[in-house]
Amino acid sequence: MDYEYIITSTDGRVGIVQFNRPKALNALNRGLMSELMDALDAFDADDDIGCMVITGSEKAFAAGADIKEMVNATPAAMLDNPFIDYWDRLRRIGKPVVAAVSGFALGGGCELAMACDMIIASETARFGQPEINLGIIPGAGGTQRMTLAVGKVLAMDMVLNGRFLTAEEALQHGLINRIVPTELYLEEAVKFAAEIAARAPVALRLGKEAVNAVYEMPLQAGLAHERRLFYMLFSTEDQKEGMDAFINKRQPEWKGQ
Ligand code: CAA
Repeated sequence: MDYEYIITSTDGRVGIVQFNRPKALNALNRGLMSELMDALDAFDADDDIGCMVITGSEKAFAAGADIKEMVNATPAAMLDNPFIDYWDRLRRIGKPVVAAVSGFALGGGCELAMACDMIIASETARFGQPEINLGIIPGAGGTQRMTLAVGKVLAMDMVLNGRFLTAEEALQHGLINRIVPTELYLEEAVKFAAEIAARAPVALRLGKEAVNAVYEMPLQAGLAHERRLFYMLFSTEDQKEGMDAFINKRQPEWKGQ
């Protein structure tokens, strides 16, 4: 498939989407977000793919929503414009999505990384919500997801004062999974995704859904939801296979059934 703003590829069972607007530091315009979601939807529907990686360049994962595209926007135009909905669509991808972040992950770029399930960061990654410098606030989940991840006082510092987090700080505050050498960051993220992609496909989807439920439901409802998903997995061939493989001391062969 030919895209204008992204490059897609696969590595075994990992589907990779790389942003390709280097001159604009991968600023997220409508075309890029639309292509990103089309590519992720296609990987999500492909049985040969178990996990996805989204990434930018070494210098910038993404420097935010495209400011030049937004400068003359009005509230009514923004209500009509599905642009921010793309971040919500990412939430509806069933398979795990890993963000491989190097350089700037700012504004909508940081929000995109946080909307993924896990984040692998290079030593040079920088996370920030600098919208305050433009006279606005984050609009694609930054005030909510950043606060849930790093806590109120640090989120306030980022949202009200434009503070950036280094990769080290992001790790310390639970925003990312791990830091890897910059020259290997994509390779390491793909390796990480490949490990996940090799696991039982239905359990992966339901595990993702159950963890995400914590953001949507009160504890009692979340626990009940988890219990139903847990019981449901006992109808899969993979549950029988996984437990039989354990008991007979062999490697399981997942069917995704
Ligand atoms: N939108 C549009 N273009 C952008 C951009 C953005 N978010 N970020 C960078 N660019 C463009 C620059 O305009 C510049 O283009 P030209 O060469 O045509 O002038 C090019 O990318 C390179 O940028 P710089 O020259 O600024 O590079 P730098 O290395 O000096 O600085 C930076 C890097 C600190 C990331 C700086 O570019 C910057 O501050 N960018 C904006 C970050 C930002 O405010 N992001 C939030 C956007 S709003 C948002 O995301 C809302 C939301 O919640 C959805």
